Amino acid sequence: MTDATPQPIYLADYTPPNWLIEGVSLTFVLDPTATRVRSTIRFTPNPDATSRTFFLHGEQLELIRAAIDGNEITPKMVEGGLTADVPDHAFTWESEVEISPETNTALSGLYMSNGMYCTQCEAEGFRRITFYPDRPDVMAPFKVRIEGDMPVLLSNGNPSGSGDGWAEWHDPWPKPAYLFALVAGELIARQDSFTTMSGKKVDLKLWVRPGDEVKTAFGMEALKASMKWDEEVYGREYDLDIFQIVAVSDFNMGAMENKGLNIFNTSAVLASPETSTDANFERIEAIIAHEYFHNWTGNRITCRDWFQLSLKEGLTVFRDQQFSGDMRSKAVCRINDVSALRGRQFREDNGPLAHQVQPDSFVEINNFYTATIYEKGAELIGMMKTLVGDEEYYKALDLYFERHDGEAATIEDWVRVFEDNTGRDLTQFRRWYKQAGTPRLKVTDDFNDGSYTLHFEQETPPTPGQDEKLPQHIPIALGLIGPNGDEVVTTQVLELTEAKQSFTFDGLGAKPTPSILRHFSAPVIVQRDSSPAERAFLLAHDTDPFNKWEAGRTLAKDVLIAMVTEDDAPLSEYLDALAVMLRDDSLDPAFRALTLDLPGEDDLAQTLFDAGLTPDPTKIYQTRETLKQAMAEHLQDTLPRLSSEMDVDAPFKPDAEQAGKRALGLALLQLTNRLDGGAAAQSLYDSADNMTHRLGALGCLLDVEKGNGALTDFRKRFEGDELVMDKWFSLQVAHAAPDKAANVVEVLTKDPAFNWKNPNRFRAVFGALMMNAAGFHHPSGDGYRLFADWLIKLDPVNPQIAARMSSAFETWRRYDADRQDMMTTALKRIKATKGLSRDSQEMIGRILGDD
Ligand code: TRP
Ligand code: ZN
Repeated sequence: MTDATPQPIYLADYTPPNWLIEGVSLTFVLDPTATRVRSTIRFTPNPDATSRTFFLHGEQLELIRAAIDGNEITPKMVEGGLTADVPDHAFTWESEVEISPETNTALSGLYMSNGMYCTQCEAEGFRRITFYPDRPDVMAPFKVRIEGDMPVLLSNGNPSGSGDGWAEWHDPWPKPAYLFALVAGELIARQDSFTTMSGKKVDLKLWVRPGDEVKTAFGMEALKASMKWDEEVYGREYDLDIFQIVAVSDFNMGAMENKGLNIFNTSAVLASPETSTDANFERIEAIIAHEYFHNWTGNRITCRDWFQLSLKEGLTVFRDQQFSGDMRSKAVCRINDVSALRGRQFREDNGPLAHQVQPDSFVEINNFYTATIYEKGAELIGMMKTLVGDEEYYKALDLYFERHDGEAATIEDWVRVFEDNTGRDLTQFRRWYKQAGTPRLKVTDDFNDGSYTLHFEQETPPTPGQDEKLPQHIPIALGLIGPNGDEVVTTQVLELTEAKQSFTFDGLGAKPTPSILRHFSAPVIVQRDSSPAERAFLLAHDTDPFNKWEAGRTLAKDVLIAMVTEDDAPLSEYLDALAVMLRDDSLDPAFRALTLDLPGEDDLAQTLFDAGLTPDPTKIYQTRETLKQAMAEHLQDTLPRLSSEMDVDAPFKPDAEQAGKRALGLALLQLTNRLDGGAAAQSLYDSADNMTHRLGALGCLLDVEKGNGALTDFRKRFEGDELVMDKWFSLQVAHAAPDKAANVVEVLTKDPAFNWKNPNRFRAVFGALMMNAAGFHHPSGDGYRLFADWLIKLDPVNPQIAARMSSAFETWRRYDADRQDMMTTALKRIKATKGLSRDSQEMIGRILGDD
């Protein structure tokens, strides 16, 4: 940490490594405060390099000794590492360093969590373990020996020997240092096996702390399903004798794809019906798949440098989304993915943190594990698939694996594979990687003599550092629906490449209704003035499930925006359409539940801001409440029968079918709750045999301020379960009334169970405060102050999380002068903190718009 303004690094400055590595041997002698790490590294000159200067990264390491070809040397310590005079031919480097895992609260490098040792090396944590060229284009096979008084000692690759107090591992696949992992502790494994498509048996082990074994069954099944899916869909087979997952309580992100030894946040792997919601099961399945899929897209083919991060993350998210769609309902998964994209990535893209899927520069790479790199990156893959078609897509992927296996590749390599495979010119498509911001797509239409014409106009607003935007290559999946509800033109893909472009359809008997951007075929914002009747028509007749849902969502949004701006709201059209849709038994309950979900407060704020208005979070909150009340009253007669249809008689299963019924049941309960003052919620809470119902019911009780008894009961039942206690914390914040939210948070932070150094617990409280928009933005400013106080407190302990969560303030420019003033005051107070981390300095600077 330093007070000097941290300097950015640039993609344009990339140069190949001067030295490559033939092999690495590491020996760890574990000790909580004095772990010794000995390394032996065989360096060879890189023929592609322009210099032989020798530099190794290193941070917070105490150098004990160093030698070159067996001769002790004294390296020169420099900022961020060391240099030394080396021969001009291959040589062997040896070093020994001492590190202190116990005092490592940043959770990067080697650290301790609940008495166990574990590592997190992505992106630049390996340099906190030993001196090394810690860059992803330096790949090497690793041999690891671990000595320590722990019963379980794990590292990457295959086991190659063990005895009392030691174990050795060998990973034959060359890998960059960020994929290194070590775990040591008192752990027990759920064991299983998987036979690959070529008949090789792979041992599977899912390691947890004693007591958590009961929560490992679902994760193991998800792992086997992922292994099978990657063989069947992408032809990718696993490549070691063993695949292991370890669950860790203190972890900055969801999980990490270390070669053969994935490390997971407990929240991303442990599950049981009594302690996990359906949403938890779904997320766990997706993350297990995601990390497993990285074995090919990330590990076998890695990134040349961190500017290529979306090469592995965008593609792997796309693959895990495909997997979830195949395991569950495609339509429901797509709707959820798009909602998440809009909620997080559009928000990012429309504020001061907007950045390219392939950035040109960064200060701290940890600040770029963003919705743009991950979720927008995945949308770009999806668009390429839409443009070239399924068959060509999978052929291109085969070529990608064939051409780049074992390499550290670039996004340019990826796009070129598609061009070479299909002969298409993707020059314009490349702009998606280089242009930040969400394109707006204005659509109008006309109809003359059987000819229907759609006019598109695209425009991407300026983003920081990018004032001028060029037209994007946008695939628009389109269908046309006739007046009687029949589809007169089935889905086809229009390719928009110009700023303004029209498409005509001839031979139509009557003016059709367009279903635009089916399946959400591009990450853009469609702006089309459309009548409530047209929206209701599409909600009833669209054959594309995504656009059917989208019609309901835009209708709800029109209603809410009109209510906020005190215009005429098409309320009855919306409520009538909703009632018809809800009673339609041919529709999946999960789908119907999603249609009941109103556009979020943040989405509405952004829409109002886009329309040149100043959003008032309090008013947005109240308007949503008013509409929900109107929905409850309008549907009053339908609720009891529909709710009872959602009862699940069979034993609990976390599958899509049951989850859908529970989702609709709970969405209906939220409406009933407004009419019966919590009676039905209390009875569901009392009889619940699974966490989905218990938590849903508890939320309803909190909404009507009758949750105190249940909250106490909940805590008593689950006191010993960290993951459930996270829910106990976050639910109270999520359901706090706007004028009470800051106070609820204040009280919770004084609770003895508020273990704030644990990222899950910190996020449970402050993540929920950020999502409670009316509470966070309460005119008192208490939400802002409290949030800033805690970011300042967290920053020296865990800069990654502090920096990441400062995005709570990223929307400050949308609001009125008072709120802007309070938010920027909070930001400036953080910025002025002495010793503020590089991570937070970069984020706060960008949010404020400093140059
Ligand atoms: N590569 C991880 C993933 O699957 C992301 C990740 C895990 C990470 N832990 C991290 C990134 C710590 C930065 C810091 O997406
Ligand atoms: Zn990933």
